[in-house]
Amino acid sequence: MVAEAILAIETSCDETAAAVVAHGTEILSSVVSSQVDLHARFGGVVPEIASRAHVELIGPVIADALGDAGVELRDLTAIAATSGPGLAGALLVGVSAAKALALVADLPYVGVNHLEAHCYAAWLEQPNLEPPLAVLVASGGHTLVVIFEGHANMRVVGQTVDDAAGEAFDKVARHLGLGYPGGPLIDRLARDGDPAAIAFPRAMPGEPDFSFSGLKTAVVQHRRRDPDGAIADVAASFQEAVVDQLVDKLVRAADEAGASTLVLGGGVAANSRLRARVAEVAEATGRAAFLPPPDLCTDNAAMIAATAWWRLQSDGPTPLDAGVNPSLSIT
Ligand code: KG4
Ligand code: ZN
Repeated sequence: MVAEAILAIETSCDETAAAVVAHGTEILSSVVSSQVDLHARFGGVVPEIASRAHVELIGPVIADALGDAGVELRDLTAIAATSGPGLAGALLVGVSAAKALALVADLPYVGVNHLEAHCYAAWLEQPNLEPPLAVLVASGGHTLVVIFEGHANMRVVGQTVDDAAGEAFDKVARHLGLGYPGGPLIDRLARDGDPAAIAFPRAMPGEPDFSFSGLKTAVVQHRRRDPDGAIADVAASFQEAVVDQLVDKLVRAADEAGASTLVLGGGVAANSRLRARVAEVAEATGRAAFLPPPDLCTDNAAMIAATAWWRLQSDGPTPLDAGVNPSLSIT
């Protein structure tokens, strides 16, 4: 028996992932099979293609995760899967696989909230974080700030009223003809540009919530007025406007909650400018910043296993008749 090892499965969007994590912190294996190439020519994730690819990949990915960890089903203490939020058909593939394995091996099943899991990615690297933490989760589907008061005690204090930050990166990259996914491409291009070249708007100043759709429109309008301007300057100025908004709301939430640690999660947390700015602001305000490595920021199953470990202790197993919830939120 491997001490408290959980096998977790993540299929909420376009990554098929499985991981084995011991006592919520020790990653024994983490396998991520990305479908990016399948979706790239459509400029975004196509739900039906995602579900079919998950069905094909789930078996081999789970087998790799168990093999890499050197464990068998009978060594595990629970099987977990992301039960929401995400694409309904995609979630069903992972949840069905997890329940089937739990039944076969007579193990508890744990359904995990993907957004909570992005907050828990930090605990994998840093198990001694001191709550309250102010956590920014910014991905292709979500942008929110969570105050993490303790395990199973989190509250959302701000969220996007329209597009997610990653969605804005992807849409602007498509407009600039860069490709998909846009975040890493804009991140790279912006290094050659001037972030102060174009004064794009900073939405909802003084508010806890985020908005990115006006910024995206401002980029399109700017390009119409100045079609020959350097796109590196557009990328750098756009990225700066997104990062300003993300950092501003994170710090505001930390001030209000008395949180002395800033944490990042979600795919956009891989952004180099965001990481640099959060580290700077933490130092300037006497706070700690915890920035998980990029492969724990983007979708992975290790963060699902970590969350399941804490949830199993606070709530016990999830009944096998619990379904998926595509619009699950943090309550
Ligand atoms: O968390 P994630 O892997 O999947 C979702 O749950 O959405 O996030 C994917 C998003 C995409 O929109 C991608 O463009 C963005 O994260 N992203 C980035 C960077 N790397 C990934 N955005 C900005 N800069 C990056 N370096
Ligand atoms: Zn995610």
